[in-house]
Parts: sequence; C-alpha cells; structure tokens
Amino acid sequence: MATSDEIKSLGQYMLSVSKDEGMEGLDAVIEAIARGSVRVQKTVESAALGRWLGSTGKTNVHGEDVQTLDEIGSRVFEEELLVSGRIRALGSEEVETAIEQAGSSRGNFVVMMDPIDGSSNIDVAISIGSIFGIWRHSGKYDEDVLQPGNQLVAASYTIYGSSTVMVVATKNHVSSFTLDPGNDTFWLTNRDLKLPTDGAYYSVNEGYFNRWSRNMQDAVTTLRDSLSLRYVGSLVADFHRNLLKGGVFLYPSDDRSPSGKLRLMYEANPLSFIIEQAGGSSSTGKTRMMDVIPDSLHQRTPMIIGNSDLVDGIVSVLNC
Ligand code: AHG
Ligand code: MN
Ligand code: MN
Repeated sequence: MATSDEIKSLGQYMLSVSKDEGMEGLDAVIEAIARGSVRVQKTVESAALGRWLGSTGKTNVHGEDVQTLDEIGSRVFEEELLVSGRIRALGSEEVETAIEQAGSSRGNFVVMMDPIDGSSNIDVAISIGSIFGIWRHSGKYDEDVLQPGNQLVAASYTIYGSSTVMVVATKNHVSSFTLDPGNDTFWLTNRDLKLPTDGAYYSVNEGYFNRWSRNMQDAVTTLRDSLSLRYVGSLVADFHRNLLKGGVFLYPSDDRSPSGKLRLMYEANPLSFIIEQAGGSSSTGKTRMMDVIPDSLHQRTPMIIGNSDLVDGIVSVLNC
C-alpha cells in the first residue's frame, strides 16, 4: 500500500487498497457510496427547507413508518451503486426483495444497505447514518443475497453529524474519512483505526430494562458500575462514538422483540466486520455475529458489539 503521505483522498486510498487486497472494482463501489453520501448529506442538511421531513405515510416490510428521507436515501444509493457497473445484487432495508442487476452492467459485488439509520432522529436534527455491507458475487441469486457476515469483503458507514464522516473497513484496514463540503471530497483523517483498550461507555435503551431477561438485567447493572451511559438512538452514532472512545453497544432481545430489533444483513453484519477489524467483537449473545447463517433478507438479531472484554463479560453472564 502506498505510504501514508501519498494518500490523501478516499479515491486514492481505495485505489491502493483494492489493488493490494486483490479486490478489483471495490474502489468503484466505495466511491459510489461516497457520491451517494454527499447527496444524502445535502438533503439531510436542508430537509426542513426542502419539505423532506416527516413520514411518507407508507410502512416498510418491517411494518415501520417510512420517513421521506428513508425513501430518498434508498433511491439515491440505489442509483449511484447500480450505475457503477460493479453490482450483481443490491438489498435495502426499504425494499422488500433485493435487486438483481441484469445484463452487461452487472458486476461482481453484492451490497446490503441501511440507507438511513436512525430515522426517528431526522426531524430533531440528531446525527443519523447510512450502513453498507459488501460481499463478492458467490453464485446464484438467492445464495448471493444471504451470505453470512464472515464472507464480507468490506463494510462502510457514513455518519451525518457535526461533520460527515465515512468509515471504510476492508480485509486489512479500517480507516475514516471526513467530507470537505467545499469540494464534495472525503479526505483521510484516521488511518487504521483501533479500538481504545479501555471502554468508556455502554449504550443501551434502559427504558426497556423490565422487558429483558433476568440475566440481561444483571449484565447491564454490572456495566453501570464502571461505564457511563450514552444512548443517541441512532445505531451509527452510538457505534461511531464507541469505536473512537471504546465501549459496548447492546440491543437485546426482549419480551416484545424476541429476535431483537436490529437487522442482521445491513446493520449487524457490516458493523461487526468493522469492529473486528478494529480489534473488537460482536455477538448475538450466543454466537459470533458474523457466523450466523442468514435465512431471510430482513431478519433481526440481538446485538452486543464493542470492546472484546466487555462483550465477553456480557455473554458470559447471559449464558451462566
Ligand atoms: P432505522 O432508522 O434504520 O430503522 O434504525 C433505527 C435503529 C437504530 O438506529 C437504533 O439503534 C435503534 O433503532 C433505536 O431503537 P429504539 O428507539 O427502540 O431504542
Ligand atoms: Mn438502522
Ligand atoms: Mn434505516
């Protein structure tokens, strides 16, 4: 890989990494995500002015209210990714079935995305994000769209916060890039991110405490003794803070959501790939997240993700 003082932009970085990791075309996929992120950022920033706030009045496959920005985000990323000519199949939280790219414009990558994560925070101007898992084309369509996380070749998210930051993990690296809105370019700001050894925060919606199993209640009570609670309600924002400061995020199953709320293919798997690349762990509470064999595109999973010692401690209490 070219030395750090030669690589400045996301484009230069990904050209070098794609070559080094034998992933020809991966740079074009990440660049498509970057272009889509610039378009979404502009829309998020002026949502109230453009009347893009609020609900579409529709519900998605999960029975959830589709926000206007959910729909715009899904369409923007679909356009950018499919026009890249590198996509074989594309799945979105907002679309019931995955799109299979046909003909000459199809490529070798399969992308699963959460185009806007943290939708409930859009109208109150709190950080939201976009999450992407990237696999190689593996064979027939139905095999392609249900690959386990341990087959991921890259993962990325964008957080639209006080600054717009893309985090990109590949086989051998995880780095972050900050958008310069002046020239719509993402610039390398953190190379080869590693989780801090000591976690500072735990993130969980304590409002559901009474819905959890007794073991989960005991595990979270223990966290209170040594960590501060931070919970934004946007997975990408909670995850990004813990990635930079250390900590653990939990979205447990509970008596109303026996499989938890978060989706395996385009929330849990991509972030699990990133956290393991940064030296952390991710578990369902029973097994390593990325070893889960998916059986449906939109399946949900409980998630415990962050510093390995914290994740392992919680998992051992859950299974004692
Ligand atoms: P999405 O907006 O893509 O549906 O994701 C929302 C998720 C996630 O971002 C966050 O961690 C979680 O919902 C918050 O759920 P609760 O409000 O139940 O805590
Ligand atoms: Mn989400
Ligand atoms: Mn979403």
